[in-house]
Order: sequence, then C-alpha cells, then structure tokens
Amino acid sequence: MSTSPRKRPASEALVAGGVVVLLIAIIGLVFLSGAGSALYPPKAATIQAEEVSKLYNIVFAIAVAIFIAVEGLIVWSILRYRRRPDDVDLPPQTHGNNLVEALWTLIPTVIVLYLFAISWQTLNTVDYTSFANGQQPDIQIHVLAGQFQWQFEYLDSNGKHLATQTKPLGEGGGMAVPVGKKVYVTLSSGDVIHAWYVPRFLFKRDVIPGVTNHFEFTVDPTEAGQTFHGQCAELCGTGHNAMHFDVIAMTPADYDAWLAQLVVTANATQPPPPSGTPTLQLAAKNIQFEATDLTAPANSPFVIEFKNDDPATITHDVQIRDSSGAVLQTQDTIPGGSSANYQYTPLAAGTYTFFCSVHSNMTGTLTVK
Ligand code: CUA
Repeated sequence: MSTSPRKRPASEALVAGGVVVLLIAIIGLVFLSGAGSALYPPKAATIQAEEVSKLYNIVFAIAVAIFIAVEGLIVWSILRYRRRPDDVDLPPQTHGNNLVEALWTLIPTVIVLYLFAISWQTLNTVDYTSFANGQQPDIQIHVLAGQFQWQFEYLDSNGKHLATQTKPLGEGGGMAVPVGKKVYVTLSSGDVIHAWYVPRFLFKRDVIPGVTNHFEFTVDPTEAGQTFHGQCAELCGTGHNAMHFDVIAMTPADYDAWLAQLVVTANATQPPPPSGTPTLQLAAKNIQFEATDLTAPANSPFVIEFKNDDPATITHDVQIRDSSGAVLQTQDTIPGGSSANYQYTPLAAGTYTFFCSVHSNMTGTLTVK
C-alpha cells in the first residue's frame, strides 16, 4: 500500500500563516504597549550610543525573524504532519538531506560573520579616542572613583588641573559636559574596582586601581539641558549603592560659563576665620584619621585644620553628625596631598561624631563642652 495522499494542504498553510501573523502581532503589541521598553535599551544620548543602538536593532531584527521562522515552521509541521484517523502505515522514512544540511550550515555562518563584522565596527566607534588618532579632544575630564564617591576633575587641553567639581549630587554636583563636543574621560580609582555606568550612554567602563582607563563620547546636541543618571556598576563595598552621579548636558556656552565659575570658586581664597577662632588639628593617612577624639568649645565657631596625607586620588572630608546620626555640618572633600581649613558653626555641648563622607570606616568622637 502506498501512503494515503494528504488532503487540505491549502487550509493548513492558511492556519500556519495565521500563526505567523499572530506571533508578529504579539511581538508588535508587546512593544506598542510599552512593556517592550523594559526589554529594550534606553534611547541613546551620545553619538557612540547611537551606534550601539543600531547594532542592537540589527541583532534584534535578525532574532525576531529567526524566532518567527522557527516557530512558524514548528506549528506548520505539527499541523501538516499530524496523525490522522486513517493513518495506518508508517510514512516513507527519509534520512539526510544535503540541500537542507548545506542551508542550515551556510545561513548561520553568514549571520555570525555578518554580526562579527558589524560588532567590530561598533566597537571601533565606541573605543575611538581623539588622542589615539593624533587629534585633540574638546574637553578632558579625569574621573576619580573612591569608596564611595565620584569626583570630577576638569583639565585644560594640556591635561593640567583646572578645577575639581566638589558640589554634592542634588546640589548642582555631577559631571557637566557640553553637548556636541568630544569629551575625553580618564578613570582612576584610589581603592577598589568601581565601574562608570550611564544607562542612556549605553556604556559602562571599569575603574581599576593602578590602571587608567579612558574613553571618549559626544552627547547628542538635541540633549542639551538633560541630566543623565549614572551609577557605579561594580559591587565595591557597603556603600556601593550610594555611588550615584549625574552627567549634566549643557550647551557649549552654558558649559563655558559653568566651568569658568568652577575655576573662579576653586581659586578663590577662603575668607580667613575670625582671629581667635579655636582651631583643632586633624590629619588623615592610609584611609584613617590620625586622631579619633577631638574636643571643641561649646557655642562657638571653630576650625579644623585638616591635612589629607593620602595619595592624590584619595579624597577625604570631615563632616559632623549628632548622636542620632543626622548630618549637621558638611565640608567639601579635598584630594590627597592637600589641606584645608574647615570652618564649623557653633554646636551645643554634647557628644558628636566626626566622619569622612567618602570612607565609612573613618569616624571619631567630637566632644563639645
Ligand atoms: Cu563603586 Cu560600586
């Protein structure tokens, strides 16, 4: 007996076609409903991120096409070759098909080679730096990461220190950059491994002690006025979750004014404390305060002459909190190798804690009496 001829193949093809349309509709709906935004990278904010986005779109389109083809073929085979009531004999058994084997080797090979080529291209765009190509970037910023704080040091075109952004996050702090300009960033860490990560830049780079990593980016000019959230993306200790920062995109004119103001503030000599103000001495070395007990007079302003004896990449400050843990007085951090006269406003008699906002282990007792 020969095999029974298959009937109604046209209607089965119709069903399989319907399934493919349904699959496409589901994928379309997921993305239209906004649920897809959770599966999809955020909108690119830099020219480099734009390249990453394009690469993602191509890979995603290929993946969707393969998904639909495979699922469609599975559904079609199930329907087309299902067992019927009148199926009593085994259908003809076949083994091997040179054409199909050649195709399923060739097509994935072509896809992998193509993905390799476009990934390579994207990688080169993302890793491009002006210096490596004999050119000069527009802006140079040195980013210092330390447990648990980011610091942004602005450099001139010779790589010399101009000023350091010391304002905390939420009070105008963060990394300001001009849109449409080539921003060259160097990364260094004074302690452990951190990672500089800005989701809308579709970019992350490790900050490794003893190694200076670098990269370059250009914020899309249409993004002027935007603030991009960034965070440390490498578990670096108990304060890892506090390592947030902002990248503030400004028009070039706004940026120039901002930087000029930062330089003026940095170079301004601090008004000296009123003569006769009680002055305490404090130094820090090896990420430790050299004194853990200080005494200050009650109800009087006082000064702490603070010396940071750590390497330049390690910053410290001396802040004060009360016994409940509420921070009462803050100070700007200073880099290793420098000193500052921190001025404090009067405190009532009592016991307080002085601490470094960067290093959670650096605390001491401040007795006010
Ligand atoms: Cu720094 Cu996590």
